[in-house]
Amino acid sequence: MKISLEEKFREMGGKRPYVQRLFGRIAGIYDLMNRLMSLGLDRSWRKQAARYLALNTGETGLDLGTGTADLCIEVLRQSGPGTRMIGMDITPEMLDEGRKKLTRMGLQKSIELRIGDAEHIDLPDNSVDGCCSAFMVRNLSDIRQGFREMLRVVRPGSRVVCLEISHPPGKIFGALFYFYFYRLAPLFGTIIGKAFEEYNYLPNSLTTFPKAPAVKAIMEEAGWMDVRYYYLNGGIVALHVGTKPDPNAA
Ligand SMILES: C[S@@+](CC[C@H](N)C(=O)[O-])C[C@H]1O[C@@H](n2cnc3c(N)ncnc32)[C@H](O)[C@@H]1O
Repeated sequence: MKISLEEKFREMGGKRPYVQRLFGRIAGIYDLMNRLMSLGLDRSWRKQAARYLALNTGETGLDLGTGTADLCIEVLRQSGPGTRMIGMDITPEMLDEGRKKLTRMGLQKSIELRIGDAEHIDLPDNSVDGCCSAFMVRNLSDIRQGFREMLRVVRPGSRVVCLEISHPPGKIFGALFYFYFYRLAPLFGTIIGKAFEEYNYLPNSLTTFPKAPAVKAIMEEAGWMDVRYYYLNGGIVALHVGTKPDPNAA
């Protein structure tokens, strides 16, 4: 008998503990599987996300669901000297992999990785100069709460950038993508990663995730303004960008 994802969440005490345990189990193979399953495209997606965040020299950015810190690293690459990133994640094993990477790259002073929940961010109001996430929002129990928290912690006038897998709008390309995403990608994960459950969660987590226009509406409801989205590679992923209203702006 096939157990639904909702039943699995219930068995584990909720979506958050389920997601945390799942990423804990695949942390060691996460980067390799990302490269393989995205056919190497994930790097260019993060590059574009970092470009939209556009941190200025000396500013501090927040990357939620940072995992192994790839988006933090990309943001730093594109920022001036003295820029800092805080990477938060609920899964210690993912952060451990990230820390090893930062040590290898000599970036441990510019990027601080810490345990933290995107739905209850342990930072004061208006304390960071921009907030980003890659492939995290889909895993939240309450997406609205996540976007409200991001709005609370960023400084007025600064940006949020959300990179997430999406639903391609084109019918034929969409059908091809769904075949790949629902049939072939889990097979890669099962055979190469030896992680059947984990890489079956991947497509299932997209099924209930809203389409790009609906994500935009959720962000606007949460209080973000000038929200735009950009489809990358035919809509396999979408980049949502918004700005926190600044009451003092002219
Ligand atoms: C698909 S991975 C993405 C990792 C990384 N951002 C990247 O670009 O490869 C999703 C990450 O989000 C984290 N995550 C899930 N729910 C979270 C939450 N509520 N707060 C913070 N991190 C969360 C998971 O632990 C996991 O590391």
